[in-house]
Amino acid sequence: MSESTLSRRGEIATTTELRTDMALFFEANGDLWHKKKNPDGKFPLNLAENNQSWDLLKSKMEDILKNNSIPDWVSNYTGIIGHPSFLESIAKFMSKHVTRCKINPDHLGASAGSTAVIELCAWVLCNHGDVAILPAPCYPVYTQDIKMKAGVERYDLITHHDISELKSGPLLNTGHLATAVRSLNQKGKIVKFLLLTNPDNPTGLVYSDTQIIQIANWCVKNKIHLIVNELYALSTIDTSHKDLKDAYPDKFKNQSFAQVIHSMNSDYLHMIYGFSKDFGISGMRIGIVYSKNEEFLKAYNNLAAPHMVSNLTQWIVQEVLSDKNFLKRYIKKNIESLTQSYVTVTKTLDKIKIPYAPSRGSLFVWMDLSEFLSENTEEAEQVLWRALYDEQGVLLTPGTGFGHTKRGQFRLVHSFLKENALKEAVKRIKKFVENKRRKNTETK
Ligand SMILES: Cc1ncc(COP(=O)(O)O)c(C=O)c1O
Repeated sequence: MSESTLSRRGEIATTTELRTDMALFFEANGDLWHKKKNPDGKFPLNLAENNQSWDLLKSKMEDILKNNSIPDWVSNYTGIIGHPSFLESIAKFMSKHVTRCKINPDHLGASAGSTAVIELCAWVLCNHGDVAILPAPCYPVYTQDIKMKAGVERYDLITHHDISELKSGPLLNTGHLATAVRSLNQKGKIVKFLLLTNPDNPTGLVYSDTQIIQIANWCVKNKIHLIVNELYALSTIDTSHKDLKDAYPDKFKNQSFAQVIHSMNSDYLHMIYGFSKDFGISGMRIGIVYSKNEEFLKAYNNLAAPHMVSNLTQWIVQEVLSDKNFLKRYIKKNIESLTQSYVTVTKTLDKIKIPYAPSRGSLFVWMDLSEFLSENTEEAEQVLWRALYDEQGVLLTPGTGFGHTKRGQFRLVHSFLKENALKEAVKRIKKFVENKRRKNTETK
């Protein structure tokens, strides 16, 4: 092979895929199932897209474009981490709908997606080789976000073995953290931050107030930054829904991490928000960081130029956010749709006795199909994953990249397809499970 013309890091990048299931996603998305037109089509349920409420938002954006003149600031450079009027509108929107406490726009930064925000946080807070702790299972792409440029290592902290242990929510506590940090320190590693996703990707679990406050206190005391990614803050499941309420018997309270930031007022606490999921506009690329650490924000601002949000996007989103009635309607409808699609999936999983984590938010169902594995290995998980796709056209994300040790767990995105296609996908999963069980009993 000829010698590479790239840098060492460029060479590494040539072989570091963002995720393993993207190529199949594009294949499946180009061959979507349709009852009449494409009955042998596919069901891509692996990419975290929320397509439930785009119709509503699209017509709102079309109205804005029809009825307004685009302001002149849109064509020029503006603030690196957001135009002042955009940050002002984000602060108002977040205060009312996301954080429920007053957000000062001076403590906000906008970048091209939460991906950019996470990468910049890793860069600003860590040195090359430092470690970030993530409770497993956890969003696979964080690995690349923190490692590719900032060189930060991901440590997957295992708090449980079986999905059934997650019935009452995430298990992470300060004991887990102390043990993990001690063992990493003994290996000469420095832990710089803990990254929580709340609601969580992939489990949909939500940390309670008490849990988050205890963890935050521990982090501050141990001089470890705590970043809470609330990217799915408004993508909640209505747990009072008639088909769900029995699965959530415990009283539950959770507040936005911004409230903890306000009450503790520490330089070690930071929050992330974004528009890719709650508003289903991943293509518009808006991620937000909120921190009261002024030094952090200064460094972030000076590094963020390659990640600026397009001004046209900033303007149109700020116009959407200025319509209070629309926002109320949109958020309500989005929660109703997400709850419905979640029910569609979990009703069948209950019937066929497939274990899953009881979600309170996000776009996912995290399920356990390990009974169909020939052995607890990545290879066996890949075989099962491909079999579901090849036999039934249903594409999930295999658990491997999520950092958990138990193989055979998969993530399903319930917000990608419209209700009729999702129902068909779920029927196919049921058929797959029943066929497997039949074959297994026949061979016994
Ligand atoms: C937890 C989490 N963080 C970040 C991202 C990336 O989001 P964005 O489109 O804002 O870059 C995702 C997307 O799936 C996610 O689930």
